[in-house]
Amino acid sequence: MAAALGASAINIISGPYLQNVGPTEATVIWRTDKPATAWVETAPDDGASFYAESRPRTYSTDLGRAVVGTLHKVTLRGLKPGTNYRYRIFSEEVLDQKPWHVNYGGVASSDVYTREPYMFTTAAPAKNTANFVMVNDIHADSAKFADLIRCFDAKKHDFVLFNGDMVSFMDTEDQIFGGFINQAAKVFATEKPFVMIRGNHESRGAAATKYMSYFPSSTGKPYYTFTDGPIFFIVLDGGEDKPDDDIEYSRTSFADDYRLEQAEWLKQVVATPEFKSAPFKVAVVHVPPVLDTWHGALHAKSVIVPILNAAGIDLMLSGHHHVLRYAEAGKEGTDFPVLINSHDTSVEVSADKSNMNLTIRNRAGETVKTLKYTAK
Ligand SMILES: [Fe+2]
Repeated sequence: MAAALGASAINIISGPYLQNVGPTEATVIWRTDKPATAWVETAPDDGASFYAESRPRTYSTDLGRAVVGTLHKVTLRGLKPGTNYRYRIFSEEVLDQKPWHVNYGGVASSDVYTREPYMFTTAAPAKNTANFVMVNDIHADSAKFADLIRCFDAKKHDFVLFNGDMVSFMDTEDQIFGGFINQAAKVFATEKPFVMIRGNHESRGAAATKYMSYFPSSTGKPYYTFTDGPIFFIVLDGGEDKPDDDIEYSRTSFADDYRLEQAEWLKQVVATPEFKSAPFKVAVVHVPPVLDTWHGALHAKSVIVPILNAAGIDLMLSGHHHVLRYAEAGKEGTDFPVLINSHDTSVEVSADKSNMNLTIRNRAGETVKTLKYTAK
């Protein structure tokens, strides 16, 4: 996958993977084993060789300067909606940085000579359909993850939604990438983005505060919104499940204040015309605020659910319980149904402006439940 040019053997060790693929922008992230600058070359999907002409470069920059590091993040902007783009990634090793000179080593890049370049498609706001798959609570179990994603063709969907607890903690970058990102990149995430929802386990560990470095969002927070065809998504961060002063958190959890911060943000989101006019309104949160007696769920039920009830949410997608559960609308304090997906089932969602259909499959690919919703 990665070719190293020059004397120094710099290597791409993770990715690339796509994040935030919107109508006019996309973010590409990868890692190298040595500090480097980074850029992405893009080309239209016009059948011409990637080598037909020099391709525009977009560098990883911050504050007007090229970023030197081992985690590379390039945001491509000014793209055309609903358009295929081929791309290639590059990292040039930085051996030494002087105030007046930088010594470079070799260059590692993705291969467009012996294999096809990577390709992604920008979102199309006018699209009438949505198609995605959700998995959750993988807890870095690569065999389970492999089984689940083998049962659907991720590259044929708009994105894959990871609804939290993909790892059991965020300790080191190697552990986070080894837990699921490297595997996702190998199977689909070079070409289709994954949408990350923060689970309670992703808020634990020494690298937990670096969360946004790996999973950037439109708000710069783990809670954000996005649209896919007829569905308006509200992504929330359920925070920790136990009370903040639980001894397990060692005085590092402030999830109550964090949920209140999200409640204020949520009030603004549900007042927007984009939200109100969407045929389907789907809330996504790892910890479900129903069928649960622990503090995090109860607090969300008191501060978040009333806003969602008043807003006319059609469906909530959750995980966390590791068993498949379903709370019908009006039964558990929510005016909308809540699907709690198990750790060993996937949920495939397809929607148009009138209907939204869900198919839940086990690790063998067998359908265990189907659900149908019609637009209000
Ligand atoms: Fe969880």
